[in-house]
Amino acid sequence: MFRTLNFFYKTRSMKTVPTLMRDQKKFFSLTSRLRHGEYEWQDPKSEDEVVNIVYIDKDGKKTNVRGKVGDNVLYLAHRYGVEMEGACEASLACTTCHVYVKQDYLDKLTDPEEKEDDLLDMAPFLKENSRLGCQIILTKDMEGMELILPKATRNFYVDGHKPAPH
Ligand code: FES
Repeated sequence: MFRTLNFFYKTRSMKTVPTLMRDQKKFFSLTSRLRHGEYEWQDPKSEDEVVNIVYIDKDGKKTNVRGKVGDNVLYLAHRYGVEMEGACEASLACTTCHVYVKQDYLDKLTDPEEKEDDLLDMAPFLKENSRLGCQIILTKDMEGMELILPKATRNFYVDGHKPAPH
């Protein structure tokens, strides 16, 4: 970001200070709007960080996704049009990002926090391999992981609030 700002400053003379101030406002408002899930919209920079995963929706439709190390499974789903809602935007206050993780991959995930476990207890169609998608961050050893969406989720966070993908 600093390199971008440097370029930004160097390309303008002091005569254009009012314009610069206005443009700065645009620049900063643009970056703040991109904060949620911004990382997931960036393609992998090298093959070393690629993590291929598969989303399977409630009707069995598969979406193969070329993700990368560090991607949040919720925001990655948004990027590729997979219907994982994420009503509370990863703040651990809903269960609309509920997914089933293919058994072989369960032990590759970090253990759920107590709060995630408590929320999952309230999720409809709970199974042994249930997790909250927004708490899954891709690592290299999750290559090939399948995430299956449940038949339905319940949004008790804010009725009717459906965040648009960022
Ligand atoms: S998006 Fe609400 S807990 Fe995951």
